[in-house]
Amino acid sequence: MIGLLLLACEAGSDSGVSDCVVTWDGWADGFFTTYCQSCHAAQSPNRNGAPEGCNMESEADIASWADRISVRVLEEGTMPIGGGIPAAELVLLERYLACVQ
Ligand code: HEC
Repeated sequence: MIGLLLLACEAGSDSGVSDCVVTWDGWADGFFTTYCQSCHAAQSPNRNGAPEGCNMESEADIASWADRISVRVLEEGTMPIGGGIPAAELVLLERYLACVQ
């Protein structure tokens, strides 16, 4: 699965075709709200140990954490804790991260 995701990414960049159809308003806002903000939000009542300042609430937040999100969610699968993200959502996340950086 991870190999396929990386291949998809490379094919996208090599072809020169823009993959930036996955947007904050159209998809990412809801994704990070659902899977990350219970811990990674400034106003979270219980961050469950998520580092101070490591928030997933805006496109700017995601841009500054994009490399680590890619490693923890796409490569290692260690975020969110407990996993549970459907494969189709991971494909969209990879496309979104490629555009936000
Ligand atoms: C149940 C709480 C919880 C959820 C939900 C959660 N995280 Fe985390 N996150 C943590 C904790 C605790 C840490 C600090 C310990 C660690 O790094 O494993 C952390 C650390 C991180 C870090 C910084 C550490 C690093 O490796 O650079 C990133 C980036 C991150 N999480 C991304 C995410 C993303 C993206 C999501 C949603 C897809 C997510 N997390 C969902 C609890 C959570």
